[in-house]
Amino acid sequence: MSEIANLKAGLIADIAAADTLEALEALRVGAMGKNGVVTGLLKTLGPMSPEDRLEKGPPIQDLRESVAAALATRKAALEQAALDAQLAAEKIDMTLPADPGPQGSVHPVSQVMDELAEIFADLGFSVATGPEIEDQWHNFTALNMPETHPARAMHDTFYLSAEDGAEPKVLRTHTSPVQIRTMMNQEPPIRIIAPGRVYRSDSDATHTPMFHQIEGLVIDKGITLGHLKWTLETFLKAFFERDDIVLRLRPSYFPFTEPSVEVDVGYMLTNGQRVIGGDGDAPGGGWLEVLGSGMVNRRVIEACGLDPDEWQGFAFGTGVDRLAMLKYGMNDLRAFFDGDLRWLRHYGFSALDVPTLSGGVGA
Ligand code: PHE
Repeated sequence: MSEIANLKAGLIADIAAADTLEALEALRVGAMGKNGVVTGLLKTLGPMSPEDRLEKGPPIQDLRESVAAALATRKAALEQAALDAQLAAEKIDMTLPADPGPQGSVHPVSQVMDELAEIFADLGFSVATGPEIEDQWHNFTALNMPETHPARAMHDTFYLSAEDGAEPKVLRTHTSPVQIRTMMNQEPPIRIIAPGRVYRSDSDATHTPMFHQIEGLVIDKGITLGHLKWTLETFLKAFFERDDIVLRLRPSYFPFTEPSVEVDVGYMLTNGQRVIGGDGDAPGGGWLEVLGSGMVNRRVIEACGLDPDEWQGFAFGTGVDRLAMLKYGMNDLRAFFDGDLRWLRHYGFSALDVPTLSGGVGA
C-alpha cells in the first residue's frame, strides 16, 4: 500500500475509534490543522511541476476529502450519543408521587371564620371589614353610647395615645363599628357579616386581650325579631351540623339594640362533655350563651343617616373563638394564641380540605 493510502487507513481508523468529542478534535487538529499531516501534504502540491501535481494531486485530495468526511460522521455520532445520554439522565417519571414538603395547617379560628362565611353566603350575606384601630365615634357614640354613657365602662377599652389634642383612638372593643361603617357607605337593603379581631384588657382561661368576633347586620323593610330568630337558628344548625339545636332567647341590654336578646343553645352532658344539641331544660341538659343580638336601635339607624321609620333590622355578635371551642372541644382559650406547633398540628385543619362543612344551609 502506498504511503498515502496507509496514512488514510490509519487516520480513518483513529477517527472511528475516538470516543469523545475532545479526542476527535485533537485528531482533527493533528490532520487538518495548520500544522496537520494532511495540510502538510496539501502544501507540497503548490511548488510541484504540473506533471507531478497531476499524478500526486488526486490521492492527496482524496485523502483530505475522506478524512474530512470521517471527521464529520464521527462528530455527528458522538454528538447524538451525548444527547441520548443527557436525555436518559434527565428523564422524569411523572407517575412518582410528589414530595409533599412541610405541611402547614389552618388555625381553628380561621377554619371557623371560613365556615361562618360559607354558611352566611348561602343566606345571601356578604363579608364586610373595618379597621382594628377605630375612632370612638364608630366604636361607641354612633352605637348609642355617648361619652358619659356607663356602657362604655362595660368594655375594658385599650386607648391609644392621642395625636395633637385629637380624641384618642381605641383598639375596637367589638365588631359592631362595622355596622356603622356599612350603613354609612352602602344603601340598604344590607345583609353583611363582619368577622375580625377585637381587643379588651382582660386575661384568664376564657378571656384573652385579643379575640375574634363575627358581627351580623340586616337592614331592610319590615324586618322583625322572627327573622332574627330564624336566621340564628338556621346558622347554628348549619354550624354545629345538627338538626336538634334548641335556642333560648333571653331579654338583655345592649345600647345599640332594642329590644336586645341574649341567645343560649341547649347542650346535653355526655360522658362528662357538653355536647351541643337538645333541650337544655331536659334532665342532664343545660344552656350555654353563644350570642348577643337584637333589633337595631332607631338611634343607631338615625346616626347613620337613615330613616328608622323606613328601615329596620337586626344585628348580632358572637365570639368566634368560643364557637370554635364548643364545636371542636378545646378548653383553654389561651392555647389558641400561644403558637405551639404541637397544638396547631393536633387542632389545625388541612388547607386542602376547604370548603369545610359536610353540607350547607338546609343540608
Ligand atoms: N357588640 C356586642 C358585644 O361585643 C355584641 C352584639 C352585637 C350585641 C350586635 C348585639 C348586637 O358584646
